[in-house]
Amino acid sequence: MREFEKPNELIDFREKLGGSVGFVPTMGALHEGHISLIKKSVEQNDHTIVSIFVNPTQFLEGEDLDRYPRKIEADLKICKLAGVEAVFMPKIEDIYSSDELRILAPKIKGYILEGFFRPGHFDGMLQIVLKLLNLTNPSNAYFGKKDAQQLFLIQKMANDLFLRTNIIPCEIVREEDGLALSSRNVYLSQDERKKALTLSTSLKSATNLILQGVRDVKEIKKMMIKSLDVTKLEYIEIVDRDFNTLEEVQIQNSIILIAAWVGKTRLIDNIWI
Ligand code: PAF
Repeated sequence: MREFEKPNELIDFREKLGGSVGFVPTMGALHEGHISLIKKSVEQNDHTIVSIFVNPTQFLEGEDLDRYPRKIEADLKICKLAGVEAVFMPKIEDIYSSDELRILAPKIKGYILEGFFRPGHFDGMLQIVLKLLNLTNPSNAYFGKKDAQQLFLIQKMANDLFLRTNIIPCEIVREEDGLALSSRNVYLSQDERKKALTLSTSLKSATNLILQGVRDVKEIKKMMIKSLDVTKLEYIEIVDRDFNTLEEVQIQNSIILIAAWVGKTRLIDNIWI
């Protein structure tokens, strides 16, 4: 497995590859969720490239950039075992220059929900994803549905900017008890983990209500709020696949989204109906 730090080295490597290239961008601290993206890429492409870069521009002032888990040795082993051909691990100065040209998330869909509570987050996320897609020039790039709004905005960027990479959505991976895998789960104490589980159980209960015929979003939200045990709820929303807020659930076209703090950890989860 090749390891690259400099963008030019990656570009040279990429240019010599024939066949299809799959790309999995990550911020490291790889877990089964990332592994499922990597496996899919290895299965579906002739070559797979993974990037590991904790991108500072998508963290807001006061967020967890400094304490974000970094496990580079373990990550490299995981990539090697999974059949990754190259890992790109740039330093900040290899990727960003001063007074950069900026990519801005769309004014509406980039500033609701996650974008409302983390204004500017999606600008930084799209900026780095575009850079990484330009560097790796992949046939297919893999993103988890757990970051549903991120996935939506990357798909929108690919459409709006006529990118020639297929954006491939991948299913959420959960612990046996339902907790969605996240690199941030390591911040949770045992007690907080129990509380964090109420995010996924509330989503499951909402799905059950919908299966019983309930369509009214207010009623579903009310039930979900009752079943949560979190420090602070930021939002529960039901949107369609284009991230328009719904008042009535649309079967096969709705996503229930939740974001909440458990102690000092901010968690998100969702379910696609
Ligand atoms: O989902 C993530 O880990 C990050 O937002 C991404 C896509 C790697 C960009 O930094």
